[in-house]
Amino acid sequence: MRLLRTLLCLVWVLAQELMNTFALINPILPGWNPDPTILRVGPDYFIATSTFEYFPGHPIYYSTNLVDWELIGHALNRPRQLSLLGTPSDAGAWAPTLRYHNGTFYLTSTVRYVYTYELRQFPRSFFVTTTDIFSNQWSDPVYFDALGYDADLFWDSNGDVYNTWSGINNAIDKIYGIYQNKIDINTGNTLTPAELIFTGTLPDNSSARPEGPHIYLINSTYYLLIAEGGSGPEHRSTIQRGPSPSGPWENNPANPILFNGANLSLPVQYTGHADIVQAPDGAWWGVALGVRPQTVGDFDHIQLGRETFLFPVTFDTLGWPVFNHGLPLSTEIPDVLTDKSHLSTFYDSFTSPTLQNSYYFLRTPYKPFHSLTARPSFLRLLANSYALGDRDNPALILRKQTSYEETFETILDGFVTGSNLTEAGVTVFYGDFAHNDIGVVGVSDDGSGERVVVTRTLSPAEQVGPWALTTTNSTVTTVTYTPLSTKSGPVKFVVVGNSTSYSLGFAEGNATETDSFGEITYTATFDSVSMSVMPVNDFFFKGASFGVYNTGNGRPSLSPADFRYWKQTPGA
Ligand SMILES: *[C@@H]1O[C@H](CO)[C@@H](O)[C@H](O)[C@H]1NC(C)=O
Ligand SMILES: *[C@@H]1O[C@H](CO)[C@@H](O)[C@H](O)[C@H]1NC(C)=O
Ligand SMILES: *[C@@H]1O[C@H](CO)[C@@H](O)[C@H](O)[C@H]1NC(C)=O
Ligand SMILES: *[C@@H]1O[C@H](CO)[C@@H](O)[C@H](O)[C@H]1NC(C)=O
Ligand SMILES: *[C@@H]1O[C@H](CO)[C@@H](O)[C@H](O)[C@H]1NC(C)=O
Ligand SMILES: *[C@@H]1O[C@H](CO)[C@@H](O)[C@H](O)[C@H]1NC(C)=O
Ligand SMILES: *[C@@H]1O[C@H](CO)[C@@H](O)[C@H](O)[C@H]1NC(C)=O
Ligand SMILES: *[C@@H]1O[C@H](CO)[C@@H](O)[C@H](O)[C@H]1NC(C)=O
Repeated sequence: MRLLRTLLCLVWVLAQELMNTFALINPILPGWNPDPTILRVGPDYFIATSTFEYFPGHPIYYSTNLVDWELIGHALNRPRQLSLLGTPSDAGAWAPTLRYHNGTFYLTSTVRYVYTYELRQFPRSFFVTTTDIFSNQWSDPVYFDALGYDADLFWDSNGDVYNTWSGINNAIDKIYGIYQNKIDINTGNTLTPAELIFTGTLPDNSSARPEGPHIYLINSTYYLLIAEGGSGPEHRSTIQRGPSPSGPWENNPANPILFNGANLSLPVQYTGHADIVQAPDGAWWGVALGVRPQTVGDFDHIQLGRETFLFPVTFDTLGWPVFNHGLPLSTEIPDVLTDKSHLSTFYDSFTSPTLQNSYYFLRTPYKPFHSLTARPSFLRLLANSYALGDRDNPALILRKQTSYEETFETILDGFVTGSNLTEAGVTVFYGDFAHNDIGVVGVSDDGSGERVVVTRTLSPAEQVGPWALTTTNSTVTTVTYTPLSTKSGPVKFVVVGNSTSYSLGFAEGNATETDSFGEITYTATFDSVSMSVMPVNDFFFKGASFGVYNTGNGRPSLSPADFRYWKQTPGA
């Protein structure tokens, strides 16, 4: 009897164990979503991330349970707020801070327009506001006076408002530090001189890079959370505390409180740029960026870029926050939240009259080049003169890749080529200098209307080190042409991504039977290393997107490109 009871008890305990195998699955925002900032207002959580030269800028994600996140809009969604014309790749809208005070939401941003080193100048930050974050209507920019980036806003209990940012000592040495002043929150104007309040925990030289500051007031103590170590494997989070928003700072002996770079075999790397938030139940949570190298210690295959991770935050007995129980950040955190995957198939049949909010343009469009009403159930792109490699605004619509294993598929319907410059198709896109395309292009200028499939893939000419950590301007583009049998029939394009490569393929449709396509012909497979090749003096801050385009390759084009559905199928 006693044995039976013990056995039953054991079964019950095991069953409970099984039911309680909750785990938080990371990243919570899969696909490139760097520099997360998190905010809670009542039952609602919001996260904003960086978008660089893509438009609109700074997605706002919304959740009530920290697990299910919905994209509800973008803070910089009008050209007047974010003009990106001519902005180099990876400049543009950097690291936001999202805060709420007395009925108003504030989002800070830094839009970097140039990388001209001769200019030796830093960008100016600003904030935009809204009283209804669900409306997707944000104010025009209110500029801070200071030069720098990663601006934070903090309201002290006496009403003083502090702007804290990452700046440099001078334009020659460029030693980074955390600077601060008090501002007038109505105008952004400076009220007190800018002070260097912290130089970080690392040796104070040009590679230390203290940045991403956030100030919190918790139980009458001020905390200064920063990122440092540069944006690669040395990236980390450290925290200080003090009696005022400006210090003096007491170092947490446990620093860094988030750092995976001590073990390059860990599946998540580059961890840092964190922000924390308190749940209604009193528990604390943090978000940070991280990359997922696809093989151990390998920074060549991080084509999804920096994604957003969530982790529990606790406080030790001395009042210091502990990130993720002191463990390295990982893709699965046991015993918290639910083990729900954040991946889902995306299928857009283009029946809505407006573009869904998960699509992006490359830089701010001069004028609309797309329509969802010109031909019902198709996304029509009118070509402009820009090609995909131009530092401008090609007729290109992008959507983030969300899983290393992911398939993207669409159909280009009835594309009639006017000349050998007329081209439309799909692309695996990082930026001007890194994209791999498969499309339909005209063969000649003679009016024959002959078309071929063109495939353009990129590979580094020589490898000097892990690509994501070095820079190069030597890449090789391989171009192939494959015959097409019709001058206007539908062409299905397929991109198949896996952990280390992508394959590009197409199939011709049967003109008499709309949904019948031949076998997929794969015209190229390329190493995904090409999605993290950077020219000299450029950065690797974004990640891969899939795109559809229509270009006149330098000339205006009269050939509209109609795309039937957009399908992204993530794997594991
Ligand atoms: C809060 O906002 C209200 C209405 O906009 C304003 O009247 C009030 O002065 C504000 N309070 C503080 C502390 O800023
Ligand atoms: C900065 O200091 C660190 C630690 O001493 C060193 O590893 C690094 O190379 C230095 N960087 C520069 C630019 O001097
Ligand atoms: C703040 O103080 C309260 C009361 O002493 C304590 O219960 C709580 O744990 C403290 N919170 C933090 C984050 O230190
Ligand atoms: C580094 O991480 C790997 C992968 O998680 C693990 O197997 C290994 O034990 C770690 N090494 C150290 C020294 O912690
Ligand atoms: C297009 O065709 C013209 C002649 O018909 C030729 O001169 C030109 O080089 C071709 N351009 C391309 C990009 O193939
Ligand atoms: C970049 O191009 C210039 C000029 O072609 C060349 O001298 C230089 O070696 C190249 N740099 C790299 C890193 O490939
Ligand atoms: C990725 O796909 C390529 C091309 O099909 C294949 O050669 C490679 O083995 C695949 N890699 C993995 C890890 O599945
Ligand atoms: C196109 O579809 C029709 C009707 O099913 C079929 O008879 C024909 O063989 C198909 N043609 C090709 C090229 O597949």
